[in-house]
Amino acid sequence: MHCTKKISDDLTWVGASDRRLAMFEGVYSVPYGVSYNSYLLLDGKTVLFDTVDKAVQQRFMENLTETLGARELDYLVILHMEPDHSVAVRDVVARYPDVKIVCSAKSMEMMKQFYDFDIGQNAYIVKENDTLDIGKHKLRFMMAPMVHWPEVMVAYDSTDKILFSADAFGCFGALNGAIFADEVDFEKDYMDEARRYYTNIVGKYGAQVASLLKKISALDIEMICPLHGFTWRRDIEGIISKYSIWSSYEPEENGVMIAYATVYGNTENAAEILSSKLRDKGIKTRMFDVSVTPASTIVSESFRWSHLAFASTTYNMGIFVTMEALISDLTAHNIQNRTVAVIENGSWAPASGGLIREQFAKCKNIRVLEGTVSIKSGLKAEQLSEIEAMADAIAATIIKK
Ligand code: FEO
Repeated sequence: MHCTKKISDDLTWVGASDRRLAMFEGVYSVPYGVSYNSYLLLDGKTVLFDTVDKAVQQRFMENLTETLGARELDYLVILHMEPDHSVAVRDVVARYPDVKIVCSAKSMEMMKQFYDFDIGQNAYIVKENDTLDIGKHKLRFMMAPMVHWPEVMVAYDSTDKILFSADAFGCFGALNGAIFADEVDFEKDYMDEARRYYTNIVGKYGAQVASLLKKISALDIEMICPLHGFTWRRDIEGIISKYSIWSSYEPEENGVMIAYATVYGNTENAAEILSSKLRDKGIKTRMFDVSVTPASTIVSESFRWSHLAFASTTYNMGIFVTMEALISDLTAHNIQNRTVAVIENGSWAPASGGLIREQFAKCKNIRVLEGTVSIKSGLKAEQLSEIEAMADAIAATIIKK
């Protein structure tokens, strides 16, 4: 039995949610599940926007065929070739052999790389600002390279003023029977997941996201339909302004994200004391044990806060393994415009602090505060003043912002 959602008179969501997936893309935990969105537009011609992941392929095919009824599918628009949206293309073509596949030239290349089937005669390649008239609705295509892959494009339905935004404006989390972001308490229940989705999936490509934002600023948008998560029909400016901040790498809030790597709790204790002193000064903090909290959450929180503090034990003369992985992830995602404080620990040769500094020296506009607090095994009373000085230095730079 199909399970679809009506989005407008002519547009129906025919996607599905998956709550069994442990790790999205093999690396991001999705404790609240994930949705794979596909949209069917019924007009003079029929148009399907993207397909879904293999996990929900059967449900999707039922949704599609039952919504189409006796009609044929005229066009399948591929906005993004990543297999979580394209693996069902073969099934769609098998079921509707005359369908035209509308995609960028790069998508066509990628399709050949990923799959053995040949869409040859069915291909309908579009480029920047090409249009497609399907009856009452007129579609326009705009390229959005690296949001999140190079072949990505977005589509704009100028009749209903709907932007089909591919990965942009998406969110982790199953839809749980809703379809619109305003049907849920998005700020409270989903904004953290939207930030975690953005920062980890496209956080590295801020400049390309900014180009897309500039392009769509010229459009009159009443609805945004992304490939994951909810459809936006209210407070569209709100989610666009979040994207504007995230893509600029500017922090959303003043405060300190404290990440620590500890073996026996002594490094954690130093981080706790720093957090406590910051709180005494009225500064917001968030603390994460990097061996427990997934890196994707800490990357997301690092994009959120103005200041970052890293406290790590030394391990095999290097940075503790989980902290090393986190910092490598953060620098790979192009973190910038932050103030960083460093605490190191090591029972005989503390070295992690210098190595953390070296990593952040490669990033753009990261100011690492003077004075690594260096602990030998456990923080001593005479070192409390060093933590106090670190809290003062953080407070001074927050006040200046
Ligand atoms: Fe869900 Fe980049 O795709």
